[in-house]
Amino acid sequence: METKTPTTILIKGGTIVTATDKYEADIFISGEVIQTIGLNLEVSADKVIDAKGKYIFPGGIDTHTHMELPFMGTYSSDDFETGTRAGLYGGTTSIIDFAIQKQGETLNAIIDEYHRKASKAVGDYAFHLGVTDFNSRTKDEIKDIILKRGISSFKVFMAYKGALMVDDRQIMELMTETGKYGGMVIAHCENGDMIDGLVNEHRALGHTEPKYHGICHPELAEAEASGRFIDLAYHTKSPCYIVHMTCEGALNKVKDACKRNQKVNVETCIQYLVLNDELYEKPGFEASKWIFSPPLRKPKDQEALWASMRQGLVHTVGTDHCPFCMDQKKMGEKDFSKIPNGAPMIENRMEVLFSEGVVKGKISLNKFVEVTSTNAAKIFGMFPKKGAIAIGSDADLVVFDPNEKHTISVETHHMRCDYNGFEGMEVTGKTKTVILRGTVAIEDGKALVGKGFGKFIHRNAHNAELRREKEIRASDE
Ligand code: URP
Ligand code: ZN
Ligand code: ZN
Repeated sequence: METKTPTTILIKGGTIVTATDKYEADIFISGEVIQTIGLNLEVSADKVIDAKGKYIFPGGIDTHTHMELPFMGTYSSDDFETGTRAGLYGGTTSIIDFAIQKQGETLNAIIDEYHRKASKAVGDYAFHLGVTDFNSRTKDEIKDIILKRGISSFKVFMAYKGALMVDDRQIMELMTETGKYGGMVIAHCENGDMIDGLVNEHRALGHTEPKYHGICHPELAEAEASGRFIDLAYHTKSPCYIVHMTCEGALNKVKDACKRNQKVNVETCIQYLVLNDELYEKPGFEASKWIFSPPLRKPKDQEALWASMRQGLVHTVGTDHCPFCMDQKKMGEKDFSKIPNGAPMIENRMEVLFSEGVVKGKISLNKFVEVTSTNAAKIFGMFPKKGAIAIGSDADLVVFDPNEKHTISVETHHMRCDYNGFEGMEVTGKTKTVILRGTVAIEDGKALVGKGFGKFIHRNAHNAELRREKEIRASDE
């Protein structure tokens, strides 16, 4: 018998949680969008979801993923199909993935390639554009990329010397060019030369184990590059966003910027909030599971990140989802600097943050929504289509049981990776039903949408807040 996809859905009796509110109401969805929100709605619908006792969050937005990324001699093991599906299981309905330019090639070429790769996505997706080779030719591509191709954030790497790293001059010129059209430069902030020098020193001493990765990526390297990036943005009167911030030293640079009324947008990732560098002491090669850049830090850095989130200095929690299976990690068995950097994270972000953050009283429920979706949508030009529960917004919704306890494990996760970095962690709170653009995507532990269901999110430039930052900087003169 043919089953008809419901075109109208009524979610009854749930508690809607947004970045600012918490209230009980029904939600009526028609087509891809939210049609009505109200008390005891008397409407008939193709499908009714009983959400009594559950929270309803806006669909999660992961600001930082790498699907099928060619990196360090291999490819990250999730592609857009498996990775976005795993995200949906955890309540993430949209991702922003990094299309990273190949040096010597055009920016448009990599955007075309990423559209091809992402055409099989199950969840929605946007792209940040990684710029590794900024020159007069790539400069000429920027305007149309922002105004016509729907990509308004441009990532630079201040690390990965010899591969992805750009210099300060390129960063400033990119800031100036993207700023003309309402774009923003975002950065991986670590001092690549400092890291390169340390790696050479330790290799010369015969140090091979994974833990040397952490030792070669010190807090100072991240703090220095973060401060420099912030200064470059100040100097060029540009908005800025720092990806995967991990440490107190870097946060102090953000605090310094506040003193001169400079807004710095900051992302951290779930692993930096809940795991620390004790994991690098695991015996044998196990520590390679947590080799990514920047590395895990100390408990004092975790505390600084939680506090900064509460204070509004950390705006988004992403994942830097970049999984590699253990046989891929083994490429660095004899040399820590050859371990592919990255870990599987996308599926666990929302549940781990809820459990460790909200349940343990570190952040409020509204803050949880702010950092898992709303701020991302606002900063990256997708609001209120995404990141909101409002009439006319995309019906991207997560029905979440705040009381259900479960244990995270590779045995039950959906990421294409043979380990889980949170293995054995007991969490409170579970994603039950996920709706993406008005279609039930996850229900009863099953994915009901498949390959190609995900859509590209064409993002706007000229976010009002970013424009304001430029105006403030200009008026400083
Ligand atoms: O270790 C990481 N983070 N791998 C992915 C590339 C990056 O730096 O974001
Ligand atoms: Zn990075
Ligand atoms: Zn990354």
